[in-house]
Amino acid sequence: MRTQVAIIGGGPSGLLLSLLLKSVGISSVVLERQSRAHVEGRIRAGVLEQGLVDLLRKVGVAGRLEREGIEHHGTILSYENDRVRVSFSDFVDQPVVVYGQTEVTKDLYAAREERGLAGVFEVSDVALGDLKTDAPFVTYTADGLSHRLECDFVAGCDGFRGVSRQAIPLDVRREYEKVYPFGWLGVLSETPPVHHELIYANSERGFALCSMRNENLSRYYIQCGLDEKVEDWSDEAFWAELKRRIPEEDAARLVTGPSIEKSIAPLRSFVCEPMQWGRLFLCGDAAHIVPPTGAKGLNSAASDVHYLFEGLRGHYVDGSDDGIEAYSARALDRVWKVERFSWWMTSLLHRFPDQSGFDLKMQRAELAFLRETPAAQEALARNYVGLPY
Ligand code: APR
Ligand code: PHB
Repeated sequence: MRTQVAIIGGGPSGLLLSLLLKSVGISSVVLERQSRAHVEGRIRAGVLEQGLVDLLRKVGVAGRLEREGIEHHGTILSYENDRVRVSFSDFVDQPVVVYGQTEVTKDLYAAREERGLAGVFEVSDVALGDLKTDAPFVTYTADGLSHRLECDFVAGCDGFRGVSRQAIPLDVRREYEKVYPFGWLGVLSETPPVHHELIYANSERGFALCSMRNENLSRYYIQCGLDEKVEDWSDEAFWAELKRRIPEEDAARLVTGPSIEKSIAPLRSFVCEPMQWGRLFLCGDAAHIVPPTGAKGLNSAASDVHYLFEGLRGHYVDGSDDGIEAYSARALDRVWKVERFSWWMTSLLHRFPDQSGFDLKMQRAELAFLRETPAAQEALARNYVGLPY
């Protein structure tokens, strides 16, 4: 089998790239390890930057998002029972859109199906070959048979635990990592959100986040220990702890209910440099991970996909390789700024086991400065709504 671009991974990065390539007549095949149902069932965050919304519109996949998505023009940070609202619209002429990234993945799959795009699910033994030539290939097993996919380029969209990043030789790859000493316990409940905007809470008991999916579907998180397990937390215990961590006026208003999803996720910052090697290009979680404080995972994958799509379009349509040659540098420039913001929001709002009294005073001073200083609020707003591509 042959295609122009072999895409490893059928998560949002690979799906979006395949649809963008199709829009300019470039062929691709998506190779996905899991079933479609498994990928669509993954719990994901719920905030989209305008850049991602624009890409979804570009490939005609924004219909449901435009009907069901909720524009947010600010967010709340709370500490010591106080609240700071950071406006986006006071500084930046663009909102974020609250819409489940799980729904984005479903919408992308539906569009691919409607347009008859090629993909293979439940593949195994994926291996990449001849990446340093102009005729790379991918081998894989599907339905018990071995296959070889000849291609011009390979897009590694296979997430943090995929095979693509490993194809870059260890003496070429440089990996940067920070593992945080806590996790997020998340709950989804069919209850009205406690506030119409998100609340990021720094409390002496730890971080909490009040988010939502729609007017009757709420998403809440509390910081938890790495040794804690979901079964340690009854719904009642979760709600009681959440109430202790958010401002009293919000706790009094909180509508609780049975959890329809409950899970614990670890937090990590990670970047692989370079993001390309020969004809292999890494996108999204295959190349970088952020802690979820700020919901930058899919939003940073989207800018990678944008840069790679522009580079591949340059190659096939304009006969110029400038874009693919500059891909890694361009993508990493924005990736590191997003890593910084996600690390900063995480450091500002969480309680760390080894934090000294001085460290706590620094957090409080930073929050107080943010409350009093429009320039500080503007910096947060610009990063939160999404830096330019
Ligand atoms: N072969 C084929 N597919 C693979 C392999 C492999 N060896 N390894 C992993 N995959 C698949 C996974 O099953 C998964 O569906 O690659 C896909 C990677 O998807 P994600 O992990 O969702 O990564 P990405 O598409 O980059 O999404 C980025 O979206 O919702 C957010 O938080 C999420 O930060 C993440 C972001
Ligand atoms: C979510 O709604 O799941 C969400 C929102 C904002 C974040 C992280 C997660 O920073």
